Amino acid sequence: MSSSLIIYSSTDGHTKTICERMTNFFKKDETIKVISLEGASTLNLSLFNKIIIGASIRYGRHSRELYKFIKLNKDILDQKDNVFFSVNVVARKPEKNNPDTNPYIKKFLKISKWKPKKIGVFAGKVDYPKYNFFDKYIIKFIMFVTNGPTDTSQSYEFTDWAKVDDFAKQL
Ligand SMILES: Cc1cc2nc3c(=O)[nH]c(=O)nc-3n(C[C@H](O)[C@H](O)[C@H](O)COP(=O)(O)O)c2cc1C
Repeated sequence: MSSSLIIYSSTDGHTKTICERMTNFFKKDETIKVISLEGASTLNLSLFNKIIIGASIRYGRHSRELYKFIKLNKDILDQKDNVFFSVNVVARKPEKNNPDTNPYIKKFLKISKWKPKKIGVFAGKVDYPKYNFFDKYIIKFIMFVTNGPTDTSQSYEFTDWAKVDDFAKQL
């Protein structure tokens, strides 16, 4: 029986939501486990046929823990079917929403020695009411200069769920 592991590196939970949504598209007889990066560090990765890692961007980069995890597990990742996707708000722009055009995927591939067999990129969410004072105003400024929404009383979900579903169907 095939078994897949979906690992999320997420600060505010949106990447975890995307990972959970993907589980709807796996075959009924397939075992799927969704787990945080921290939790995955305690698992025996060799037990899974396929490993999918989804990670969000914060202040221009994926988390340090993500790079550490990949460095530590690169050999085993390479032996598996493996997939990586990034979640960021720059990807709400049509000209930056695929792996060849998204700056964070390009940066990831430059920094990480891992070359995932399949790569995706999805637009995330700006959830102003959830952020602390500092983050709220920095994000508001970034949104302002990139023509995004700036009403800090609102939440804005940019994720194209049909795109997430299509990606999941190909896994
Ligand atoms: C403090 C903070 C910094 C962020 N910095 C960036 C950024 O530099 N570039 C970007 O495209 N998105 C940025 N984002 C948007 C996140 O990538 C987006 O909110 C994503 O959905 C977060 O996923 P998560 O909930 O799984 O952490 C930032 C969000 C926050 C809260």
